[in-house]
Amino acid sequence: MEMSHLIDLNDYPVEWWNEIISLGEDIKKCPEKYDAACNGKIMATLFYEPSTRTQMSFQTAMLRLGGKFIGFDNPKVTSVAKGENLKDTSKVISSYADLLVIRHENAGAAKAAALTSECSVINAGDGGHLHPTQTLTDLLTLKIEKGRLDNMTIGVCGDLKNGRTVHSLCKAMCKYSNNKFVLISSEELRLPPYVKDFITANGSEFTEALSIDEVIGELDVLYMTRLQKERFDDKNELISLDNAYILDSEKLKKSKETLAVMHPLPRVDEITVDIDGDPRCLYFKQAKYGAYVRMALIIKVLENSRSAELLKGQTQRDIKCQNAKCITNHEHYLPGSFKGEEPLLVCEYCDEIADL
Ligand code: CP
Repeated sequence: MEMSHLIDLNDYPVEWWNEIISLGEDIKKCPEKYDAACNGKIMATLFYEPSTRTQMSFQTAMLRLGGKFIGFDNPKVTSVAKGENLKDTSKVISSYADLLVIRHENAGAAKAAALTSECSVINAGDGGHLHPTQTLTDLLTLKIEKGRLDNMTIGVCGDLKNGRTVHSLCKAMCKYSNNKFVLISSEELRLPPYVKDFITANGSEFTEALSIDEVIGELDVLYMTRLQKERFDDKNELISLDNAYILDSEKLKKSKETLAVMHPLPRVDEITVDIDGDPRCLYFKQAKYGAYVRMALIIKVLENSRSAELLKGQTQRDIKCQNAKCITNHEHYLPGSFKGEEPLLVCEYCDEIADL
């Protein structure tokens, strides 16, 4: 049977994203119209990593659609603690449910689960790689609050290296016309090359900046992110957050009146709380809209109207992905799969270059 897994938004055409966003807008206006849309359906939430918004907004979404949910938010209280692999856990749970929503610390984990799942899988964040449902939330927020998804100068600020929300957002916004990116981070936390390549390959431009101050006046959107401390291997390498990457009332004074300040949350210190009431600050609305867009996504995925091939590349068991955080380096039964031509082979799970 064809299944609509959502692993990476870019596996699908922009028209499909737009259908989800339009449905999300309708659900926001008239939620009661959809309160039986998933009667009899069960969603399983497999959260191997902590979450507040993604997990609870998915659960809220399914309940508001008339469905039910099962799942875990702490793998230590499941048979994962006894050594069960991802394949067996997801395979078994997919035989109980109609939809799996999975968050995991390793890049490519949702794709790996989808390979053997008996139902559709949604990627709710895979390590420092991608977070497509946060991006749908961000797109719905911009559509509602700014009325458009194109012709914008978008600043993304913070830990651009490890921030999966930024990777997915840049890969999505460069598909809408005339968007430009300003990448605001320290040298150590720059956006990964594969995301920069994706932006330019899709005809968008980016510039890099070392502080919010120097660019805030030109931005239509400022997307703030926290330091992803959990992704640093060597905690001694942890850099403290420089004031240049903290948004406060002084810096906000230099922005356009129409600036949209966004943040996937959780916020740590990178936005001072005294500006939360400023109409430019949209992050709490953004979190609220996440439930509407996930209602829309659940409906669309359960329709199974679209499917995408999971592994398109040539399977190569003898080549190892060089990314220690790639799921293929943790779940060793997985078939390696790479796209591109030697010597530039790219892992299809985590998008990093292979070690030849
Ligand atoms: N934005 C987001 O993914 O938040 P949670 O980690 O709380 O789910």
